[in-house]
Amino acid sequence: MAATHHMLIHFPLAFWALATLMILYGAVMTGRLAELSRATLLPVLLLSLLGALAGIVSGFLIWPMEANLSSPLARNHILMAFWSLGVFTMLTVLVWRGGEAAFDGARRWALVILALIGGLFFATAGTLGGHLLGSSTAFSLLIELLGWEVYTTFYSPLWVVAIMVLIGLALGALGIMNRRRAG
Ligand code: HEM
Repeated sequence: MAATHHMLIHFPLAFWALATLMILYGAVMTGRLAELSRATLLPVLLLSLLGALAGIVSGFLIWPMEANLSSPLARNHILMAFWSLGVFTMLTVLVWRGGEAAFDGARRWALVILALIGGLFFATAGTLGGHLLGSSTAFSLLIELLGWEVYTTFYSPLWVVAIMVLIGLALGALGIMNRRRAG
């Protein structure tokens, strides 16, 4: 199953990279190519999610679960795979619901910020996959410079999680208030 995983993970990584570029280009550029980037983003995002599901399922079939859970490196790899899936699922929902208006005005910056965060996460997931195989890259050095030693389990302190939940609730409340004001 390892060989299948190595082959399948090219799909989410390639579609996520393409979607990130399309969002950045569509948000800041004008002209035919920018229009095409915005108009064709949804199918690319949908394909990326299908690819991610295939990558994740095949990933879980490589090693027994005990091995995955007892290796900090594998745990970090799984964590980053699911964070990437979460961010790109959010982007897909926003682009789906927003339709042509998803890039209107300041809305585009929500897509840009999510795409940049997602880009960082999927690059880290792929880099950690390389570590699992024993082939690290220069990107690992960057992660190390940022203070994360990838051979130990990554965790967010509880206060960071609490702040994230509060920010999420505040943004949700802001969205509901804005919708009521507009409606
Ligand atoms: C979209 C999600 C994922 C991506 C993008 C991804 C990416 C990668 C990459 C790039 C590699 C190195 C392969 C190579 O260099 O040819 C790898 C290896 C690996 N991945 Fe994933 N992965 C994902 C999800 C998962 C999940 C959920 C698991 C669950 C345990 C997993 C387990 C593994 C293992 C065990 C290896 C090492 C395989 C070996 O030793 O041959 N992956 N992954």
